[in-house]
Amino acid sequence: MTAPEYFTVEYAINPWMDTSTPVDTALALDQWDTLRRVYAELGHTVELVTPLDGLPDMVYAANGGFLVGDTAVVARFAYPQRAGEADAYAEWMAAAGYRTARTDHVNEGQGDLLLVGSNLLAGYGFRTDRRAHDEIAAITGLDVTSLELVDPRFYHLDTALAVLDDSTIAYYPPAFSDNARRRIGELFGDAIEVGSADAYVLGLNVVSDGRHVVMPAAATGFAGQLRRAGFEPIGVDLSELLKGGGSVKCCTLERHP
Ligand code: ARG
Repeated sequence: MTAPEYFTVEYAINPWMDTSTPVDTALALDQWDTLRRVYAELGHTVELVTPLDGLPDMVYAANGGFLVGDTAVVARFAYPQRAGEADAYAEWMAAAGYRTARTDHVNEGQGDLLLVGSNLLAGYGFRTDRRAHDEIAAITGLDVTSLELVDPRFYHLDTALAVLDDSTIAYYPPAFSDNARRRIGELFGDAIEVGSADAYVLGLNVVSDGRHVVMPAAATGFAGQLRRAGFEPIGVDLSELLKGGGSVKCCTLERHP
């Protein structure tokens, strides 16, 4: 995770961002720290990346890359405002002992790359270039399933689809093309379909350990669905970070074994 020490909304690269809305950076730090503590209480190890002045979106650590085994696929950002984050995250990855690999095409890390069991779900349409999916399949050896996103509010896969355990997902169907929806239906017969009210507070932007689902507190409908499916939702309020178009999952780069 990377603290939102320099978090602001000074440019707008997704529909959630409005440069005229004031951001309370101190509150963002408090909210982010609560998330960090929730992870610690659940027994997770949280390592911190040093935030850099001038990179206000660096708090969204999920976009830094994709980590599996000893391999780190370093992000290549779509927008120049975030380009500097790639080297900062690559430096942390190398120091942590990862073999780092770069792609020629745009990939925004775990924003668009979500591992379910041994299947890597990969989003495209707004940020990650579909051609990067093949590069990442070659680098990691994982099976990659490409899913097209069609609604600009759900510009990263992790805004529209949540991985709950090795075979269970939840998603917001209108965010996907017809083909992607069909593919999701084939792969996950028991997928949880989330409604607009939950999707529009980024309710799907969660981190699950297979039982506890750390999620945006405002997504109360989805929390009920999770409980009925046997999961334990843990709501966290990240309202300041929603102003940048991100929430729980965006703030978290997971290390897959
Ligand atoms: N402002 C950031 C951007 O538009 C938000 C990134 C959110 N991260 C995520 N994993 N969805 O790039």
